Amino acid sequence: MTKENLIKIMKDIKATAPDILHSKNFIQSDNNMQHGNISVMKHSKKVACTAVAISRSLKLKCDETAIMRGALLHDYFLYDWHTPEHAGFKNLHGFYHPDIALQNAEKEYELSDRERDIIKKHMWPLTIVPPKFKESWVVTIADKYISTTESFHFIKAAKTRKEKYVPTKEPIRIRRKEKYVTLHRMS
Ligand SMILES: [Fe+2]
Ligand SMILES: [Fe+2]
Repeated sequence: MTKENLIKIMKDIKATAPDILHSKNFIQSDNNMQHGNISVMKHSKKVACTAVAISRSLKLKCDETAIMRGALLHDYFLYDWHTPEHAGFKNLHGFYHPDIALQNAEKEYELSDRERDIIKKHMWPLTIVPPKFKESWVVTIADKYISTTESFHFIKAAKTRKEKYVPTKEPIRIRRKEKYVTLHRMS
């Protein structure tokens, strides 16, 4: 995707979904992390851009409004899934969040059948029922691609930080000494 294409797609998304982009809850989702240090809001915008780019480059003749609005709302679960309340296998965030996102989106927006299907099925094959429309397939693929790149970049950045860190003996010796003095005083 060229820079010009990306700017054009972002401009089209802004024109198609200003109500979503300027809404309190969507902006608030910039405080909830999705993968690594990428927020849910940024992740959703990236998925929307990528889905439109896929549709245009393959000339799929999709309903672009549904792709844009459905992708922006596909992770509209509105909580931080890393908190103890939601994280962990028993809470099954991966399985349940599409339904929660759909319920939240329906409270605020008039959704088309395609938009509903995009939100509800985007985690396929984790959720059993496959997408019904080509727009839902495009967003599902874009979401998997973006999620993988976000996770990969985060792991790579963490690894680079670790490699750049060169431990020296001096700070460790000083810290140990301070710890020893503190312990000695307490006893
Ligand atoms: Fe999701
Ligand atoms: Fe997502």
